[in-house]
Amino acid sequence: MPDSVTMDKIVALCKRRGFIFPSSEIYGGVGSTYDFGHYGVLLKTNVKNAWWRAMLEERDDIVALDSAILQHPRVWEASGHLAGFSDPMVDCKTCGHRFRADHLEEEKADLTCPRKPSKLAGQGPECELTEARDFNLMFKTQVGAVESTASVAYLRPETAQGIFINFKNVLQFARKKPPFGIAQVGKSFRNEITPGNFIFRTREFEQMEMEFFVPPDEVNDWYEHWKTERFNWYVRYGIRPDHLMMREHAADELSHYSSGTADVEYLFPIGWSELEGVANRGNFDLTQHTEFSGEKLEYFDGSTKERYTPHVIEPAAGADRATLAFLVDSYDEETLENGETRVVLRLHPQLAPITAAILPLVRKDGQPELAQEIREQLRGIVRTEYDEGGSVGKRYRRHDEIGTPWCITVDHESLSDRTVTVRERDSLEQSRVAIEELPGWFAQRLAQPWTSPKLASEPT
Ligand code: GAP
Repeated sequence: MPDSVTMDKIVALCKRRGFIFPSSEIYGGVGSTYDFGHYGVLLKTNVKNAWWRAMLEERDDIVALDSAILQHPRVWEASGHLAGFSDPMVDCKTCGHRFRADHLEEEKADLTCPRKPSKLAGQGPECELTEARDFNLMFKTQVGAVESTASVAYLRPETAQGIFINFKNVLQFARKKPPFGIAQVGKSFRNEITPGNFIFRTREFEQMEMEFFVPPDEVNDWYEHWKTERFNWYVRYGIRPDHLMMREHAADELSHYSSGTADVEYLFPIGWSELEGVANRGNFDLTQHTEFSGEKLEYFDGSTKERYTPHVIEPAAGADRATLAFLVDSYDEETLENGETRVVLRLHPQLAPITAAILPLVRKDGQPELAQEIREQLRGIVRTEYDEGGSVGKRYRRHDEIGTPWCITVDHESLSDRTVTVRERDSLEQSRVAIEELPGWFAQRLAQPWTSPKLASEPT
């Protein structure tokens, strides 16, 4: 990654171009929560769609699910979240600031205490920390109108449990047999002690999780299969392979349910960090839910007359974190011949919020009408945006920053010969294309495999 990509630049671009805003800004903001604007919604939706395509359209052994966020409280007892889903926290005895005890060193936490008077100018005394205590990360709420009689409920901290508790339903109605998977995308909530780094760690986020149920003796092969699949998915959508690594967890890092986990890590501006986890969950979850619910969550193979509890391989990704990785990896700054800096998001065309901008050179002489005609012609084939405000140079810059791969310019010649100029975002090449050929021109380019172009800001 070029040194020029900093989290501050990504945050600024996201705000400037309407991708992501700090939430509740008119009230002064609320820590670490974000609202997605038009282009942010389009980008994240494209990321989720690319994930769904890989799960549902490019193979036949996975079905979809959308389970409720509020679930029976026993779900979280069975899953181990009520007892064990906690992080160690420490508080400053003077200012009350809370830190994650296990992140103090790794994140180089600033322990300067704002409440302690400083004797020497420029020198801050440090926070005095309490002993570490466990802090459960689940958000607790109540279901029912009267507080005293209402029952406790939790906002789900992962989408995975919604899948396990529906195992029997899916087995019955989707007519699947192991190996098969259930995929789900949705919001999860964690009362993180130290959220931060923009949308990398927030308290409300979206997950893209898939539980793949397999016969116990196939579990190792499927673990390898999913590690490779998930690593390659990021590469396919434009992340540079040298910015990705697969890191196998050490035994003392494994979650209570896991007998093997590997993280796909990405080289974020904050350093190598988890993008997605691929875990071998064994039969932990189905066994626990069988015990707690009394429902047998097994598979009976009619041909071998064998009954068993499937084992599970789980690729668990974050939609927001993946979106951030795609933003960071595509960010580039290029110095143009006139000395200006061109900021450009070199996003994969299938992830880019807008595929083609349609720009009339001037706002008269029938050019806007022809541009609108092209927009109608391309509707349903590629996502376009009609943009007529400001100089064409400014409009190009704007679409470079949004990551629009192609700009179609309508000029005075277009009216007589029905051709337009198509400008390519990465190479800046311009070609003349007949209006009638545009749908085929785009279909052909979108069908081609895409490799991320060399960043101008990367050393040669
Ligand atoms: N079901 C397993 C599970 O939830 P996880 O590693 O805790 O595993 C999976 O979460 C993914 O969800 C992470 O790799 C990350 O991409 C995303 N994620 C987890 N906590 C997050 C948070 N606080 N903010 C944003 N994304 C988060």
